[in-house]
Amino acid sequence: MKNIKAIIFDAYGTLFDVNSAAEKCKDKIGDKWEEFANYWRTTQLEYTWLRSLMNRHKDFWQVTEDSLDKSMKAFKINNSMRNELLNLYKILSTYNEVPEVLKTLKEKKFKLAILSNGTPTLLNELVKSNKLHNLFDDLFSIEQVGIYKPDSKVYDLPIKKYQIEKNEVVFLSANTWDVSGGGNYGYNAIWVNRNKNIFDNLDYKPNSEIKNLSELISII
Ligand code: LAC
Repeated sequence: MKNIKAIIFDAYGTLFDVNSAAEKCKDKIGDKWEEFANYWRTTQLEYTWLRSLMNRHKDFWQVTEDSLDKSMKAFKINNSMRNELLNLYKILSTYNEVPEVLKTLKEKKFKLAILSNGTPTLLNELVKSNKLHNLFDDLFSIEQVGIYKPDSKVYDLPIKKYQIEKNEVVFLSANTWDVSGGGNYGYNAIWVNRNKNIFDNLDYKPNSEIKNLSELISII
């Protein structure tokens, strides 16, 4: 990887722990909290893909609410928890290593940005609540193009803003399908494989696979 000018991060699942909202309520949800969190996340992502295919866009917050409602029914979770879970989703925690890694990369003078399905409001709130707001040059939201990842118009956003080549970008995601999306588009895509998952068969294999973002520092 030479001539890297920008390091672009997926948000949900890569910088921010999507299970942390349900985890904070695990005493109330019970043993199945993790299964519930995974079901909510999977449904949320399915809704983004389906809405893009149906040409019926709703923003990521509405999709997050819709998918939560289905998940709460599926797991028979009392509706009184709805607001608590949604409020916690707005302030998801980062994974432990994230703040230090971002600070180190910032010192190395790379452009740093988030490229996410999240709305501008959600992304701003997430970085502010985790005190990361001074570290990013940009928070790119799919709302700028009105269609979800992995549409190539999304991955075009940083290229157009920074006027750089696709291969001058390192793109990091923990979501295998997003690594395939960014990689097929032309980015140097790196898979953050936090949970020993299996990669997809979608015409792209990542240049590198790392267990967490700390490993990025040694390969960049
Ligand atoms: C995002 C989802 C894919 O942040 O995690 O775009």
